[in-house]
Amino acid sequence: MPAEQIRAVNNIDLELYPADFIAIMGPSGSGKTTLLDSLGCLGKITGGKLTVMGKDVSQAAESTLVEMRRRFVSFVFQDFLLIPTLTALENVELPLYFSGANYDRKFCVEALEKVGLSNRINHLPKELSGGEKQRVAIARALAKSPKVLFADEPTGNLDTRSSQEIFELFRKLNKEDGLTLVVTTHNPLFGALAQRIIYLKDGRLVSREESGLYV
Ligand SMILES: Nc1ncnc2c1ncn2[C@@H]1O[C@H](COP(=O)(O)OP(=O)(O)OP(=O)(O)O)[C@@H](O)[C@H]1O
Ligand SMILES: [Mg+2]
Repeated sequence: MPAEQIRAVNNIDLELYPADFIAIMGPSGSGKTTLLDSLGCLGKITGGKLTVMGKDVSQAAESTLVEMRRRFVSFVFQDFLLIPTLTALENVELPLYFSGANYDRKFCVEALEKVGLSNRINHLPKELSGGEKQRVAIARALAKSPKVLFADEPTGNLDTRSSQEIFELFRKLNKEDGLTLVVTTHNPLFGALAQRIIYLKDGRLVSREESGLYV
């Protein structure tokens, strides 16, 4: 018997601007991941309208969503998803290598420098702290020069200090490079580091606010 249909997010009206930095907050099961995945073309929406870079992808085939993801977005997840047998630099290079595009290794080194890991380039994941592993994952996400970086609870596995550092890094990437960021978090202290915060409850957007801390 098919599982009961769940409407994970409903009736959400949200626009992402260039150089935006949004934190999505709300209790477990409120729809944060579902919304993030939908915005990032990782999951197909079953209703409503989604426009990405001016293109209506509401009814798009999976191949179109793959193309949108390839061209415009990068993801970072809670559990880093690094290949354990590859160095930090090789992990950053891997997606570019498989994409078949011409790329310059120097660009990957620069991505690692940007996240503060110039002295860890040739280390394996097991030789890195949790915060450093997440930085490698962020460098890997940056290497393809995305228009938007989506991060789903990127600090969920990190201690408070490393989490703070990751959010400070996001702020720097947003302010200095104009990177657009959408990040989910359970921690209001980190949410407050974004430009604006949206709160979900039972799949609905219940409030939005500008962050007082974003200066
Ligand atoms: N693949 C799926 N199939 C069916 N229901 C799902 C699926 N993924 C999520 N859901 C349901 O959709 C709702 C929203 O889930 P979602 O994962 O987006 O919440 P969340 O806010 O990210 O929670 P958390 O803070 O625990 O990560 C929940 O009721 C969940 O059970
Ligand atoms: Mg989630």
